[in-house]
Amino acid sequence: MSYLEDPGPGRGSLPPRAAFTSDAPSLSLNGTWRFRLSPSLAAAPSGIEAEGFDDSAWDELPVPSLWQLHGHGRPAYTNVPYPFPVDPPHVPSDNPTGDHRLRFDLPAGWPAGSAVLRFDGIDSCGRIWLNGTELGVTQGSRLPSEFEVGPLLRPAGNVLVVRVHQWSAGSYLEDQDMWWASGIFRAVTLLARPDGGIGDYWIRADYDHTTGLGTVRVETRPDVVLDIPELGVTAHPAGEALELPVEPWSAETPRLYEGTLSTAAERVPVRIGFRTVTIEDGQLKVNGRPLMLRGVNRHEHDPRTGRVVSPETALADVLLVKRHNVNAVRTSHYPPDPAFLELCDTYGLWVIDECDLETHGFEPLGWAGNPSDELIWAEAYLDRMRRTVERDKNRPSVILWSLGNESHTGENLARMAEWVRHRDPTRPIHYEGDHDCAYVDVHSRMYATHEEVERIGRKDDDNARRRELPFLQCEYGHAMGNGPGGLLEYRELFERYPNCQGGFVWEWIDHGLAADGHFAYGGDFGEPIHDGNFVIDGLVFPDRTPSPGLAEFAKVIEPVRIEADASGIRVSNHYDFVDTGHLTFTWVLEDEGIAVAEGVLEVPPVLSGQSTVVSRPSLPATSGESWLTVSAALTSSTAWAPAGHVVGWGQLAVSEAPVAAPLPPRGPVFRTGGRLVLGAGEFDPATGTLSALGGHVVTGPRLDVWRATTDNDRGTFAGRPDADQWREAGLHRMQHRVIAVDADGEELVVRTRVAPPAQPFGLFADYTWTAFDDRLRLRVEVTPDGEFPGTLPRLGLAMAIPGAWGSAEWFGGGPGEAYPDSRQAARIGRFSSSVEGLQTPYVFPQENGNRTAVRWAALTAPDGAGLRIDGDPVFDFTARRWTAAALEEARHTDDLVPGELVHLTLDVAQHGLGTASCGPGVLPRYRLVPQKTEFTLWFRPVPGR
Ligand code: GAL
Repeated sequence: MSYLEDPGPGRGSLPPRAAFTSDAPSLSLNGTWRFRLSPSLAAAPSGIEAEGFDDSAWDELPVPSLWQLHGHGRPAYTNVPYPFPVDPPHVPSDNPTGDHRLRFDLPAGWPAGSAVLRFDGIDSCGRIWLNGTELGVTQGSRLPSEFEVGPLLRPAGNVLVVRVHQWSAGSYLEDQDMWWASGIFRAVTLLARPDGGIGDYWIRADYDHTTGLGTVRVETRPDVVLDIPELGVTAHPAGEALELPVEPWSAETPRLYEGTLSTAAERVPVRIGFRTVTIEDGQLKVNGRPLMLRGVNRHEHDPRTGRVVSPETALADVLLVKRHNVNAVRTSHYPPDPAFLELCDTYGLWVIDECDLETHGFEPLGWAGNPSDELIWAEAYLDRMRRTVERDKNRPSVILWSLGNESHTGENLARMAEWVRHRDPTRPIHYEGDHDCAYVDVHSRMYATHEEVERIGRKDDDNARRRELPFLQCEYGHAMGNGPGGLLEYRELFERYPNCQGGFVWEWIDHGLAADGHFAYGGDFGEPIHDGNFVIDGLVFPDRTPSPGLAEFAKVIEPVRIEADASGIRVSNHYDFVDTGHLTFTWVLEDEGIAVAEGVLEVPPVLSGQSTVVSRPSLPATSGESWLTVSAALTSSTAWAPAGHVVGWGQLAVSEAPVAAPLPPRGPVFRTGGRLVLGAGEFDPATGTLSALGGHVVTGPRLDVWRATTDNDRGTFAGRPDADQWREAGLHRMQHRVIAVDADGEELVVRTRVAPPAQPFGLFADYTWTAFDDRLRLRVEVTPDGEFPGTLPRLGLAMAIPGAWGSAEWFGGGPGEAYPDSRQAARIGRFSSSVEGLQTPYVFPQENGNRTAVRWAALTAPDGAGLRIDGDPVFDFTARRWTAAALEEARHTDDLVPGELVHLTLDVAQHGLGTASCGPGVLPRYRLVPQKTEFTLWFRPVPGR
């Protein structure tokens, strides 16, 4: 059988061991290699392994890299389906084959003797030769492979040849929801292995929270000694347990002790974190405390290089997640570059380290032939698990091993679990696919609805084993496009039930690939089979700009909560370990969004899980609507954020806007030059719509219910998509029938019926315009007529204003967008933005940019001229340079071309977002069911300077 179709784990490599560096010489072989891509193995050149082979006509390629991202072939995206016939373990004959060659010299003084050549990741299968001798074949793309090369090395002119195949038997085990792309995509390193050196080690460092004592024991060769100068540990022998008082490691206090392991021949720097993971009382605990996992699923992604992630990018991820209150990462769905886990140790994140395994493409086939239950794959499964655990066993951040993802269930998974349990009894086992929890230690689900989480919390479950286990959602809050909605309600459940210990939002980053003017997704590379923009479902955009979803998540999971309390200000500590002593609480009083007073709030340290109430500071009188904002910020800078970084905030309403004395209306309506004039407004006599305000041409406002559908509106996971129901009802093409324009009195009253073609139902919309001083008041009364099916996307008005009015200022919710079920991050304040800045550039364009709870908004030109809209009391708005229809049609951000006008929506309500793109839909309380609704807006022209 060809090695390509061998379901085994590859051949020739050394036993797996821990990832570490030492003082033994090493040589990075990253850099520019020679490269040639062939469409198949048969078409690939022969004899490439020969040292004399002439590769001078080949291209150059950086290593590490994925060749499809360097102009050789094209990436392809599928979620579930295999992009090749399911005929395991066979792979297509048209198997892109990338030949890589590197000539290298050893640095001066390179020692004779053993040396190891390490590949941290080759996707999917590499056949390797050094100086003409074959070393072996790798499988397991996201796992290291090492080969002994000492006897083959020479001081100069070494020739390393790696033939990489896009497809191999291993591809059946690597059906993760991500780009298919190939190459030597992680580091290549040559490591001298001194005689008497440290081949492998395992530092077991436990912590007993009842005594405050740590226990350290090193498993390695017997002559190794451990030094931890800071703890006064000198030459402690391997194999012997040493107990001593220590500070424990946690994600909140990532205390690491630096030390060394040494033999006469080698020194290895180590960083030790003392911590003990247990499952007790049905809870997952570390150092005796139950955890609340505020996690994200992290794929390794860079918009230019794909799964080649630089150390800088890995660090950027760690800093960003920490700054957004995230405390946990699931390495979906493979072990990350080992450097990432070092960062998790350093900065403090709980990690579920997941094995490189997914066979999801068998699900549509009813799981027939699924490798998880086929003996021929048993070795490959075990090998992948071993390589995961052995590589990462020294990382204190890793608290759970995960067998893989979406590979159904089967004997091979059970055997992996058995092996892990035996090898590392100190970390519980996670695997979502084991629904009965027969061989895992935590109950895990993905995208469980709020009701299901509630049932699990109540232990309303006929499976006794599951009832006893801690529960976590390994995936929830699908962050595709605009969303997720409903995170707050998940948090409430996680906090209500002690066995519900949080979860991991799917997912951290949009996997968009940088293209000309936009980010590309599935189908953009001409793939015959693909899953479109389902790969764009992250909390950060492909360039790592935080999306509104991340702002919402950060607010929902904030570790310190500040709320109004009858007797003052309640401060609650939601950290799992630390008190609030590291935080400074400050307050600011804003009068209609303008800061008028500020100070420091004295809050005595609040212990984890506790709360306290402090009295409100004494505040000066204000004239308008005023709010007190209290923020909890880091007093001193930490490794991951500067001093002053805010981890939690809350707002208390202090005083309401004064009620204005009623003014006499300024009617009546009069007719002139074929127009109706009322106060500052001019109206079309036939339709009764506003055509000019303060002398500037405007269009509308008139009733509007459509929004450019979101990925969640179109999502199919919660039953019939809302978008289908809306479109079927014709809500995207409503027609306006003018019933009456009554302009005979003080007020202009326009009666209309707004309804879709071909349907008997509709909405009566009555507009009543009244002029007061320089303002126009518009009262809108909406009354459903007939049997209205389902929900509305939104309910409000649409109007168009001059394109010059491109600056927005508002008092209300901000600074970012908000929707009914994703509005925790919006605080009440005064904000300003250009119209461009109000847009959220979702990679796949869709409804975005809604500002909520707006008291007033002004849209003005550079000379100050424009329009101010006041709510009565509040409204939502969007402002864009294109219509909702254009937004709906766009497929990439650069399809959106600014027009002449600014299009406004002014809403009384929006339908929620939900997560139906993969998960539950909009919760009942956030569904916008048509009903009789009245709302009022005030329009005022703003004169120019
Ligand atoms: C899950 C899967 C993830 C991703 C997600 C949807 O089923 O584990 O890899 O596909 O759905 O985006």
